[in-house]
Amino acid sequence: MKRLLFFIFPILVIVTAGLGLFGFLQVRSVEDKMTDDLRRKVTALAESIGASSRHIFISFQPHSAQRLVDSFDRRERLQGCALYDSTGRLLAISERMADWRNAGDPVLPKVLKHRRPEGDTLSFAGATLFVYASPVSDDNGRLLGIVEILHDTSYLYPVQTALWRRLSILLFAMTVLIVAVLFLMQRRLFTLPILRMADWFDRFQKGETDAPRPPSAQGELRLLADEVEQAALTLRVARKAIFKEATARVKKEDLWTESRLRDLVHARLGVSSFFVVSNREPYIHELNPPGPPRCVRPASGVVTALNPILKASGGTWIAHGSGKADFLAVNSKGKRGVPPEDPRYILKRVRLTKEEENGYYYGFSNEGLWPLCHVTHTRPVFREADWQTYKTVNRKFADAVLDELPVHKAFVFIQDYHFTLLGRMIKEKRPDVSVALFWHIPWPNPEIFAICPYYTEILDGMLGCDLLGFHVQVHCNNFLDTVNRLLECRVDTERFTVVRNEKETAVRSFPISVDDAMGRHLPEDGDTLREIDREYDLQGKIVAIGVDRIDYTKGIAERLHAVDRFLEKHPEYRDRFVFIQIGAPSRVHIKRYHDLGGEIDELVEKLNWKHSDGTWKPILYLKRHFTPDEIRPFYKRSDICIVSSLHDGMNLVAKEYVTARTDDNGVLLLSSFTGASRELSEAVPINPYATEEFADRIHQAVEMPESEKRRRMRNLRATVSEFNIYRWAGQIVSEWTALPPAG
Ligand code: F6P
Repeated sequence: MKRLLFFIFPILVIVTAGLGLFGFLQVRSVEDKMTDDLRRKVTALAESIGASSRHIFISFQPHSAQRLVDSFDRRERLQGCALYDSTGRLLAISERMADWRNAGDPVLPKVLKHRRPEGDTLSFAGATLFVYASPVSDDNGRLLGIVEILHDTSYLYPVQTALWRRLSILLFAMTVLIVAVLFLMQRRLFTLPILRMADWFDRFQKGETDAPRPPSAQGELRLLADEVEQAALTLRVARKAIFKEATARVKKEDLWTESRLRDLVHARLGVSSFFVVSNREPYIHELNPPGPPRCVRPASGVVTALNPILKASGGTWIAHGSGKADFLAVNSKGKRGVPPEDPRYILKRVRLTKEEENGYYYGFSNEGLWPLCHVTHTRPVFREADWQTYKTVNRKFADAVLDELPVHKAFVFIQDYHFTLLGRMIKEKRPDVSVALFWHIPWPNPEIFAICPYYTEILDGMLGCDLLGFHVQVHCNNFLDTVNRLLECRVDTERFTVVRNEKETAVRSFPISVDDAMGRHLPEDGDTLREIDREYDLQGKIVAIGVDRIDYTKGIAERLHAVDRFLEKHPEYRDRFVFIQIGAPSRVHIKRYHDLGGEIDELVEKLNWKHSDGTWKPILYLKRHFTPDEIRPFYKRSDICIVSSLHDGMNLVAKEYVTARTDDNGVLLLSSFTGASRELSEAVPINPYATEEFADRIHQAVEMPESEKRRRMRNLRATVSEFNIYRWAGQIVSEWTALPPAG
């Protein structure tokens, strides 16, 4: 539209100026003509009265003068007339112009002086008059008197106004015509050819058309079309080649690596048919004035797990663009290549309003479903308005996904509790598309889930998917129990499927993991570790670490109480033991999270005051967002890692710690209420609620013999290495593509 205005505006200015000038000249000419007519009419009238008044002047008969004046009084548009003697003294005047005698007539003196007719347009008593005075002389040229005519001119204005109105209508009609013609011209010459070219490129890429050329474009646009055509062809050929190579390799390999996953995805899902949807985006652009936007990686289990997969397989990740500078760093369709330094897949950002983010993310997802599923004694809150917004946002994401889907074969992998309705919404429009949803948090038992007032719609939405994944079998069982009890459906506990309205959904456990190659990227020289020791005064200290989003499910306060009890029971470790808590602020607009931040600050302060001695403080609380690269050296420096979640779907910090310990050292204390505890059996198990026992476990870890530490860590590393994130994704893709075709 802006482009169109740019085009049309100068033309409109020229046309308007031209018509305006023409109109002005036209009105002036009409006005001159009418004034001439008036003057002629008034002159004739003055002459006629002059001829009749001659004898009156000669014989000086004021009564006759008044009669003569009155006899002309009823003429159309004539306001009146007056007779003066040769000295300019008024002899007679029309009755309704009686006040004229006091008006300071400027015309009369001129006639007396020059002895010739004079006329002028004047304002009098709110009207505009044409005043014309003419001398009357005898046969010898001696001035006898003066006749003055006062004529109304107001009838001229409506004529001028009507003229202007006609010209304005003409101008408006021409403007509309010009805009319409220009709009159609630019649409035909530019917009339509470009739209057709973009549509052809999109369809050619998605495999919806095999037409080798974009629809005809002429002139300079032909050059652009030629380039587009070449780029599309190169892209398609490259994709076909990748698919063929990948299919061949998948048959050979058996170790789960980045490249094996890439091959599997390309062979089974196709090169451009893989779509991931999550609330949290993998890269956030923040404002960073006066510099360019700064790109940060959020603290999120979903991002930790999915980012290496997308980097390996390519595809499109659709997520909420939550960063302040996010939409400054995308193209016209909200997309950009990521990682920014080496783009391997496409990130499509969905824009949400503040109200939408509030109701759907903070409200329904994190004040409702999050506490409901974690069962950590924080009461879930379900508000009708939040639920409505949650539905609206699910719909918005469904539209964003549907916009991207190719015409044939596509796989949509939805993440988490933010999108329980999305699977059903996508299937309603595209039943042929295969949809899986992975649930990253625990699934509670049916009695708990039934607390949610909207459970029917949620469960029905989830069963729109072809595959549902949970971290551990017990969550699958809870889910099957829940649908069995709360919904009309058929559960097959042999095949782990649910059938509702003839649609079958498979339910499977896939324990999520991390990229086991991650630890190998650490610098080996130890400079960074010495730097950390210096900065935080850790030389010679036993270091324990906790790394979490600040969330009430993570058991951060319970951990601090256990450290407190450990130091009470073993004072010999004062001055020798430091616990570092790295805490990324999270969901701070929710009151429970806001309060939790205050509680932890207070507790850290209290315990440091209680135990500190000189410069040593037992707890180092680093409350900010750390990037994965910043965290890894802390893992490597820490003798112990404490994961004390009160309830956790998996917990990837435990696996990240193990991965970072390339030296096979370090002890992992792991809550039995995490999904990870089922795989990582060589970790030291803890019950975060049992403070006494928890403190003893810290003591056990501190005192653990070197050989035992190494044995345990080697086994942990072997587990994480075998069950890495590529295996997780590989298992999902294999199960998913083994299901009967969607639709
Ligand atoms: O792992 C569970 C989870 O909710 C993820 O879905 C999410 O990415 C992560 O925790 C962090 O939470 P948030 O995205 O709300 O900051």
